[in-house]
Amino acid sequence: MTAGRPFIVAIDGPAGAGKSTVSRRVASRLGFAMVDTGAIYRTVALAATRRGIALDDDAALAVLLPELEIRFSPSPGGGQRVLLGEDDVSVEIRTPPISLGASKVSARPVVRAGLLDLQRRLACAPENRGAVLEGRDIGTVVFPDADAKFFLTASAEERARRRHAELGARGDASTYDEVLADQLRRDKDDSERAIAPLRPAADAQLVDTSGLPLDAVVDALVRELEARLSGDGRSEA
Ligand code: DC
Repeated sequence: MTAGRPFIVAIDGPAGAGKSTVSRRVASRLGFAMVDTGAIYRTVALAATRRGIALDDDAALAVLLPELEIRFSPSPGGGQRVLLGEDDVSVEIRTPPISLGASKVSARPVVRAGLLDLQRRLACAPENRGAVLEGRDIGTVVFPDADAKFFLTASAEERARRRHAELGARGDASTYDEVLADQLRRDKDDSERAIAPLRPAADAQLVDTSGLPLDAVVDALVRELEARLSGDGRSEA
């Protein structure tokens, strides 16, 4: 633990490893805040697109970033809404063009550096007893001194199966083979990119979720975190 700030849990890993579900449930069980950092990159892509800024225009992105007010607020139906100013952008940031845009802006060093402070502030808000941050580089870059670090993985086939089912439920006609090929390409891009490549922190606990019900993963993480919190004297905080 680090004195003077909430208990920080980093959950990193590739798309489709179950990070979102696991992070949300772990945060809710522990009464911790949840910071979905992918949603932040997505909101930057949306804001840039709305203003007609090219997603590789570093100078314009650098001007845009400090102007953005990105917040999370509890959703009446459970979960979180993502707000850009007063505008609820929760649905719009999940569309395919914005997913692509998020991937582009997240490769710009100016954007990654510009979002560090926001991610840390959201996690360390004074009302937070703890925070779960979900992302790609939380344990390596955003909070290298996090109190607990997990790196969730699953085989490319399992992740493609989950993604294929998710897309099918939304009416997308992509085949499993197409989804798998796309998955393998993205894994390669993510792990080989020069800035903040996707890799586990040296002190992260690797959790392979292939073939595991996500509830079992949540239970295991909560058990471990509760043990650490009581060891920290923070269980009653
Ligand atoms: O987790 P997600 O699909 O919502 O993330 C959206 C994009 O942002 C994705 O291309 C990965 C990127 N991202 C990142 O580079 N670093 C993070 N900490 C979180 C997301």
